[in-house]
This record gives sequence, structure tokens and C-alpha cells, in this order.
Amino acid sequence: MDENASTLFQHLKSAGIDNDLRTLIYSFASIALDAQHHFPKYLRGTMGDKNKYGEAVAALDEWVNGYLCDNLVKTGLVRKIYSEELKEPLIASANKKAPFAVAMDPLDGSSNIVSNNAFGSIVGVYRDDLPQSGRKLVAAFYKLYGPVNTFVYSVGKGTHEFVKHYDSAGNAQFYLLAENLKVPEPGEVFGIGGDPLEWDPAFLKFAKDLFRKEKLKVRYSGTFVADFSQILHRGGMFAYPATKKSPHGKLRAAYEAATMAYIWEQAGGASWSGKESLLDVKSLDVDARTPVFLGNRHLIEKLKKALA
Ligand code: F6P
Ligand code: MN
Repeated sequence: MDENASTLFQHLKSAGIDNDLRTLIYSFASIALDAQHHFPKYLRGTMGDKNKYGEAVAALDEWVNGYLCDNLVKTGLVRKIYSEELKEPLIASANKKAPFAVAMDPLDGSSNIVSNNAFGSIVGVYRDDLPQSGRKLVAAFYKLYGPVNTFVYSVGKGTHEFVKHYDSAGNAQFYLLAENLKVPEPGEVFGIGGDPLEWDPAFLKFAKDLFRKEKLKVRYSGTFVADFSQILHRGGMFAYPATKKSPHGKLRAAYEAATMAYIWEQAGGASWSGKESLLDVKSLDVDARTPVFLGNRHLIEKLKKALA
């Protein structure tokens, strides 16, 4: 690790963004750094509860949601938190005039907890209240809890990646790993979720062409953040399409898709919902799902033709 690399704090300072937004991003990154010390004791088991989508709630899901919400409220910068793990948005009454509303997936990829595979946290920051389209995002970031822990953010001026490392005093920091990441061309891997037998036949044919014509390799972890990080570094495509049983796909527009599409498009990639860029998806229901397609631009162009 280059000890002279700039820290996240220094990078945000030179990014020319307002003090509040800078503080919020830095605070979240610091909260997420600390959170991981508590993971081992929550690694096994579910709460016996179901979330608002009827899915089993992992103990770690519940704990991370509480930890992130409590600490985000403490920053004094967030007036409302929309979380995939909350039935109703959390209104921070002490912060009524705070500048930001946040949409988050506190623990993305919870089915990977039990096997100790990578998972992540996704956060989108808005000034206006939700529901909003991703065009209104003022910042988007994620933390990937992998073999190495990374933090990726964008405030609409490129996509930047940081890695957790200890400074000489033994304190954990995020150090700059890559500035202005660009999705590699022509793209190398693809990961697609959902049952292929349930896909639209036109999409199935397109997916086969990713193998045959585009020569991409399959890589799918079942954690959106981890699969996203693969295509960010190797190029290709991530998709969770509509299926016969789930015509709106699986992933949530506000908590997952819009935020990651913002980061992706800032790295030069393209996104698609089946109808429009994922940044344009807007639903009155903040819990709405959307089909998700993220890829190198030429692949998304081919996809649009294949689905037309
Ligand atoms: O948050 C939903 C999620 O866990 C994503 O992280 C991931 O992309 C997807 O679901 C995996 O779904 P499946 O288990 O159907 O492959
Ligand atoms: Mn998720």
C-alpha cells in the first residue's frame, strides 16, 4: 500500500463539494470501518423475522441496519433514512432541518453471510425527499466487505475507489486506490441473476450471445455490490432481469439500482431498466423493484436492440 496515497478525507477535501456532503460521506465511511469489528458474533443465524418483502432477516442484517441508522442520525446531517430494512422511513426528529435524505441497503447480499462470502452496504444521498429518480442523487457510495475492504464513491465528478489500510499509528483509514475509474473495454465477465428458464426468450438469446459472440466469462456471487465491483474492474455486464414470476425483477430501484447506476455511469458505463436509464426510474413506491442491467456501453446498446 502506498502510504503517500491520499486518504478519503484529503480526497473529499479537494473534490470541491460542500462541507456538509463531505462530512456525511466521510462519516459514513468511518462508521462502516468500525462496523466490521462487530461482525463475527452476528455471522450465524437469522432473527426468525421476515422483512417487508417476506425475506428472512439475518441477525447481521438487523444489527448493521441499526448501527448505520443510529450513527447516520448522530451526524446531524440526515433528516430521513429510507432503508430496505425499515418498514417506514426513519425520521430523525432532532435533525428536522438537516440537509439530506438517504436511501440505503444496509447489508446487500445477506444470503452470503453464512458462507462468509463478500457483502456490502449501498447508500444514495438526496437533498430532496424521496421518492426521487437517481438523477437527483448528490452522492452515491458503497462499501464492499470482501477479503479486502473497499469504499467507492461518486459525487458526479467521476468514480473513485479507496482501500482500508492501517496508518503508521495503527489507525484504520481509507486510502485512494484508483481515481476516475473507467469501465475496462471491451468487457470480460458477466453475472446474471434469476432463473434462466423464467427469463424472456429474447433476453436468454442475448445472454447466450454474451458467451458466444462477446466471449465474456460467467462470474456471479449473489451479492450485487461484489458483482458490481467485478464489472467495474473487468468490464462486462451485470443483470437481474424481469422473470415470469417477478416481472419487475428483484432489486430495488431506490435502495440499490439508482445508486449503483450513478456510480456506474460516472465510470463511463451505461445502465438500463428495460425502458430507460436506471437513473430515470421513478416510482411513487419507494420500495419498488426494477429490472437491472449495467454494462459497457456497447453491450447495453446491443441489449436494447435485443429487447426491442
Ligand atoms: O439485495 C438483493 C440481492 O441479495 C443482491 O445483492 C443480489 O444481486 C441478488 O439479491 C441475488 O439474488 P439471487 O439469490 O436470486 O441470485
Ligand atoms: Mn441488496
